[in-house]
Amino acid sequence: MPRHVAIIMDGNGRWATARSLPRAAGHRQGAQAVRRTVTAACELGVGTLTLYAFSSDNWKRPRAEVTALMMLFRRYLVQEIEECRREGVRLSVIGRRDRLPADLIPLIESAESTTMAGNRLHLRLAVDYSSRDAILAAAVHARTREEMTAALGPDVDLLIRTAGEQRLSDYLLWECAYAEFCFTDQLWPDFNRGSLEAAIADFQGRERRFGAVPAA
Ligand code: IPE
Ligand code: IPE
Ligand code: MG
Repeated sequence: MPRHVAIIMDGNGRWATARSLPRAAGHRQGAQAVRRTVTAACELGVGTLTLYAFSSDNWKRPRAEVTALMMLFRRYLVQEIEECRREGVRLSVIGRRDRLPADLIPLIESAESTTMAGNRLHLRLAVDYSSRDAILAAAVHARTREEMTAALGPDVDLLIRTAGEQRLSDYLLWECAYAEFCFTDQLWPDFNRGSLEAAIADFQGRERRFGAVPAA
């Protein structure tokens, strides 16, 4: 079982456009897919799940879309936290906080402290996140690989990206040094437990060598 699964949740806009709906409708469905995926990750025994919810480059999107995304994030923090706590899900938010809507900060802090004792799944939501910026910030103090890992988080075992794109878009660049990549054409709002299981099965069929020769 991969200990750390990271997902680039992509394709919400295309899901909506294909249905002649506004992009925000795709993001709403995307939030449902987050709920399904967190539940499945918990049940399957994934240790850490890091979800790319909003990149630092996503500020370039139209203001209305950014507002809709922040609203969904706010709603998640309010509505899902009690269930996270009950289910043993520890929530952390990674990324910059100084550019987020001010009212989100106490919600994030309270969500993190409410769920701090959770030890079934560590759910990390990347919001206003740029891996290059995270590496630069960590490197101010970290001087060794171990210190970088302590500052950034664990290495990624399995990286999933939906919606057919095959790029990292400034996500977990350091942590993905030896990640296995799984790309699927499925759009994020359609992602479900079976999709996660299929990616994990794919991962389990890979041989990870970390630069060594194949096991005899
Ligand atoms: C992913 O879906 C959600 C975010 C980036 C916040 P997109 O909104 O990127 O969907 P597409 O790529 O336009 O279909
Ligand atoms: C990456 O997706 C960011 C998130 C999924 C939050 P984008 O849709 O923004 O990335 P590009 O523009 O296709 O690289
Ligand atoms: Mg996209």
